Amino acid sequence: MSTDSTPTHKVAIITGAAQGIGRAIALQLAADGLAVMISDIASKLDQLNAVAMEIQSKKGRAQVMLADVSSESDVNNLVAKTKEAFGGLDVMVANAGVAWPNSLLDVTVEEWDRLFSVNVRGVLLCYQAAARLMIEQKRGGRIIGASSIGGKKAGVMIGAYSASKFAVRSLTQTAAQEWGVHGITVNAYAPGAIETAMLRDSGAEITKGSNFDFLEHFRTKTALRRIGDPSEVASVVSMLASEKSSYITGQTITIDGGMWFD
Ligand SMILES: NC(=O)c1ccc[n+]([C@@H]2O[C@H](COP(=O)([O-])OP(=O)(O)OC[C@H]3O[C@@H](n4cnc5c(N)ncnc54)[C@H](O)[C@@H]3O)[C@@H](O)[C@H]2O)c1
Repeated sequence: MSTDSTPTHKVAIITGAAQGIGRAIALQLAADGLAVMISDIASKLDQLNAVAMEIQSKKGRAQVMLADVSSESDVNNLVAKTKEAFGGLDVMVANAGVAWPNSLLDVTVEEWDRLFSVNVRGVLLCYQAAARLMIEQKRGGRIIGASSIGGKKAGVMIGAYSASKFAVRSLTQTAAQEWGVHGITVNAYAPGAIETAMLRDSGAEITKGSNFDFLEHFRTKTALRRIGDPSEVASVVSMLASEKSSYITGQTITIDGGMWFD
């Protein structure tokens, strides 16, 4: 029997949910029956509302809340408002991330700090705020972060980005060990080349002024000879968010069409 503090439906937060992989995860988790709090930065409000309307049109439960994941108060507020709106939190997907390709010699302190404030501090803040509520709720939970294939093998022009995604793996491993005792699993996903604005914009920046075909380069590097679709990341996150992954924790799961092998 459910009580006020135990809702009949599971509840998820997805950050960076206005577009790309985050949007696909929001649609997938809502289709799985979870109530979703979808979040992004203020400039993405229209896109975020469109995602919520898409979910609601399929009879899913979605609410929108703006939050900059690099801000501790925004993230704490996001989790508190989710509890108010849906009665708790079962799944945190710390998906928001940024990428600015640059060579190591040219990376500026400003670029480095901005990248780490979103990709690493943002993930830490989401993990912490979710875990605090999940521990208080005493019903376990699923915490999931966005790493990258670049978090397993660094590459040229993505030195700072790769370092930030290696850090997500590290945080995920520590969090899994510290919070497993509370029934919380903590995992991350490591996409390869997935068809989103981030991939297209990074490719354009890396190859500007040359004839190099960035997407073709990635296509030929995969065993499956194609770029991935955001829905193919979302289906793995769906599994990580479900009971099907009950004995997986501390892992960073590669979803890259066979580009990098464990
Ligand atoms: N697309 C890929 O090929 C790929 C590969 C590996 C890893 N990833 C990772 O997957 C995640 C999603 O990537 P994507 O390709 O969908 O990117 P995207 O750029 O299309 O979407 C990222 C979303 O995050 C939001 N965001 C940025 N800064 C934020 C902040 N401070 N607070 C809240 N939201 C913020 C953006 O507004 C955007 O809506 C990222 O963490 C990315 O690093 C993507």
